[in-house]
Amino acid sequence: MRLNEQTVVVLGGTSGIGLATACAARDAGARVVVTGRDAERLERARATLGDGARVQRLDATDEAGTRTLCEELGSIHHVFVTAGQLVLDGRLAPATDELRPALDTRFWAALYAAKFAAPHMPAGGSITFMSGTAGRRPLPGAAVASASCGAVDAFARALALDLAPIRVNTITPGYVDTPLFDDILGAARDQVLADAAARLPVGRIGQPEDIAHAVLFLMQNGYVTGINLVVDGGGLLV
Ligand SMILES: NC(=O)c1ccc[n+]([C@@H]2O[C@H](COP(=O)([O-])OP(=O)(O)OC[C@H]3O[C@@H](n4cnc5c(N)ncnc54)[C@H](OP(=O)(O)O)[C@@H]3O)[C@@H](O)[C@H]2O)c1
Repeated sequence: MRLNEQTVVVLGGTSGIGLATACAARDAGARVVVTGRDAERLERARATLGDGARVQRLDATDEAGTRTLCEELGSIHHVFVTAGQLVLDGRLAPATDELRPALDTRFWAALYAAKFAAPHMPAGGSITFMSGTAGRRPLPGAAVASASCGAVDAFARALALDLAPIRVNTITPGYVDTPLFDDILGAARDQVLADAAARLPVGRIGQPEDIAHAVLFLMQNGYVTGINLVVDGGGLLV
């Protein structure tokens, strides 16, 4: 179940869940390629992943850039797309242009990754899209972001047939302690996460490594395709 000599691409891999997955793939023997937009995060990821990793500035919604990266790599075994954007949209009040990124980022990043990586992937290679529990249980005030999760779930199931024998899945994390919450919650972060942990059957918030472990399972188990793997500490039950 090692990933020796395999190329693992994480689009949105300079922080949080993506970076933890890149570290886990590296530790399993893979050559890792991670992308992101922010220069500081790119530098930190480079330092974390070490010399063997390719760390590249690329917006996952950049179609031409995604195509070029895939062509340059030539051979790709596994792709994980984490890029997504949460836009708060209570009663759909924001202007439509402000709502668009909540759907566009997650969906089109997934489509470009699949479209341009698949021709370079072997049978049994895998593509994993980032979904979220909001695709199953709506996140109040984030209807468009909830729809984006449903969109990639349905897209992955369809591609699992259309791109076979390449495997395509989605992963649905519950609350995971990442820098994402610094921006969204600000000073309320620790209290909100502590309250969430107290409600969960497992009694704690997820760590990025919990999700990375599950993404590696999707990469390594050649019999898994077309599924949505929920890793949420039992959050959907309560
Ligand atoms: N944390 C959670 O509880 C949780 C739960 C369910 C789902 N998710 C989803 O998981 C994904 C990752 O979240 P995280 O918690 O790991 O957050 P994070 O620590 O903020 O990491 C997000 C990563 O994605 C990159 N990224 C974002 N937009 C991008 C774009 N357009 N192009 C390229 N890279 C992009 C970021 O780098 P740059 O910003 O520098 O580009 C960063 O490397 C998100 O889609 C989020 O909605 C998170």
